[in-house]
Amino acid sequence: MNKTIVSASILSADFSEFGKSIAEIDASGATWLHLDVMDGSFVQNLTFGPALFRALRSRTKLFFDAHLMIVNPENHIKEFAEAGANGITFHFEAHNDPIKLLKGIKDLGVSPGISIKPETPASVLADILPNIDLVLVMTVPPGYGGQKLIPECLEKVKKLAEMRDSAGLSFRIAVDGGINEDTAPLAIEAGADVLVMGYAFFGSSDKKGLVSRLQST
Ligand code: DX5
Ligand code: ZN
Repeated sequence: MNKTIVSASILSADFSEFGKSIAEIDASGATWLHLDVMDGSFVQNLTFGPALFRALRSRTKLFFDAHLMIVNPENHIKEFAEAGANGITFHFEAHNDPIKLLKGIKDLGVSPGISIKPETPASVLADILPNIDLVLVMTVPPGYGGQKLIPECLEKVKKLAEMRDSAGLSFRIAVDGGINEDTAPLAIEAGADVLVMGYAFFGSSDKKGLVSRLQST
């Protein structure tokens, strides 16, 4: 079984103090840094692009877990890779040839991931799982932090974990949206091994304790 990883999402950080937030994430012991890229088209919200990756790259050795909520992700993969992304996850709903794009990401030396929105069934990924390092299951509608987890989405995590076991694969399963100390155990129980956390992470007064409790499960 994969060890549980906390991926702290800077979407909930203070946008005027990114450097300070990175230092807080480093000090917490979280293994990954989750970077939500939104284009105002695939989702309504707008966030940031490769320039922020480049600016933060020199500040930390954290694994940069890029979550692209953008249309035409193929046009931007190379730039995110060059800006320091270690993993790039795009949306199944945003591309019509996922295997080609997954291979393209791998060819850039970056770990390939794919994400599905709450309404997209896990079964759409059946044929492409061997090409994936990470499946990111959205547990809220993409676009904003601080929403409440949709419990039905954990059924998809279970289904993906079964598909992983029966095919003898080892991709990671991430849950993204509404993860906190109450919902994390349910996600882990379902088979998730990456916990994306924004609101609950930055709202915690004991980030180190929070991360160590979750990463030791
Ligand atoms: C939402 C983003 C999430 C977000 C999760 O579209 O993909 O990564 O940061 O935030 P919380 O943990 O606040 O639900
Ligand atoms: Zn995300």
